[in-house]
Amino acid sequence: MRILVVGGAGYVGSHMTKLLRETRHEPVVLDNLSSGFREAVLGAELIVGHLADRMLLERVLRERRFDAVMHFASSIQVGESLADPARYYRNNVAATLNLLECMVHAGVSCLVFSSSAAVYGEPARAPLDEDHPRAPVNPYGRTKWMVEQVLGDFDRAYGLRHCCLRYFNAAGADPAGLLGERHDPETHLIPLALRAAGGALPALQIFGTDYDTPDGTCIRDYVHVADLCRAHLLAIERLLGGAPSRAYNLGNGAGYSVRQVVEAAGRASGRPVPVIEAPRREGDPTRLVADASRARAELGWRPKYDLDAIVRHACAWEQRSARRRVPAAPSAVRS
Ligand code: UFG
Repeated sequence: MRILVVGGAGYVGSHMTKLLRETRHEPVVLDNLSSGFREAVLGAELIVGHLADRMLLERVLRERRFDAVMHFASSIQVGESLADPARYYRNNVAATLNLLECMVHAGVSCLVFSSSAAVYGEPARAPLDEDHPRAPVNPYGRTKWMVEQVLGDFDRAYGLRHCCLRYFNAAGADPAGLLGERHDPETHLIPLALRAAGGALPALQIFGTDYDTPDGTCIRDYVHVADLCRAHLLAIERLLGGAPSRAYNLGNGAGYSVRQVVEAAGRASGRPVPVIEAPRREGDPTRLVADASRARAELGWRPKYDLDAIVRHACAWEQRSARRRVPAAPSAVRS
């Protein structure tokens, strides 16, 4: 398959590009490098450009004859989306609309879209299946749900078939150690816990210890980035085989509290994680756990990695990145 990987220099997109290469497909990456990294694109062509660039997209899609598009490019921070919603509607909704229109013009009719558990808002139950009401509680979640609705309309009107993959907490790193999570600034729990264990941060702040959970901290469903990528491959194969559009939850179905993740980070790094108990972070639901039985039944998706493996791979990546960040010792001055 020849696949346009939009956002293929970012965290999940770069792992996907690597998997496509390893499975003998032909990925081409389009990324504006606003939050992605050129060196994360392993063994694939990189076109540097913005999704909102209509002429570029029309040209790329017309000239290359792609079988499908995988769309990973978006702004992803809930807090930032509350502070600067315009950026989120522009980057996540308006730019995606541009991509979809260009796909229709070019006759590319299959898309896998990176959606999010954020479309559900404050969950009424756990685990959550795909029929749970979509009631996002922040602009980030609303942008993902808007795109899902736009996709429904594009399918009905123009026959653009799609899979919306609703990630729970994407985490971990390439098991071979070549890629990993890299955000700037980093806001996610696992990399921050590992940095605190390694001494790069004085301590991890635990946001809220008074939630209605066994240890008072929030519960999340962490899913390995490599498992997410395998789900994308299964989804695109299913679409190209003629299956109708569908949304799938992607999670392990197991919930872990912040404190349990902190313990796992301590085990993986061999050092305790220093923590500070801090107030709740705005917009964090108490418990988010996936019911991913639809993806299991229809895609044949079985996540391979549990929390310990996720944190171990993330730890190996953090340690490698920390070594790269240490400046080389000045060489001896010759007289
Ligand atoms: N947390 C801390 N301290 C930190 C960072 C996080 O206690 O320094 C806690 C959070 O409060 C939360 C849990 O760890 O309870 C996980 O937080 P992350 O920031 O790692 O992940 P989120 O659950 O907030 O975010 C994930 C995705 C987002 C997506 C969101 C949807 O990473 O892109 O789920 O709900 F928007």
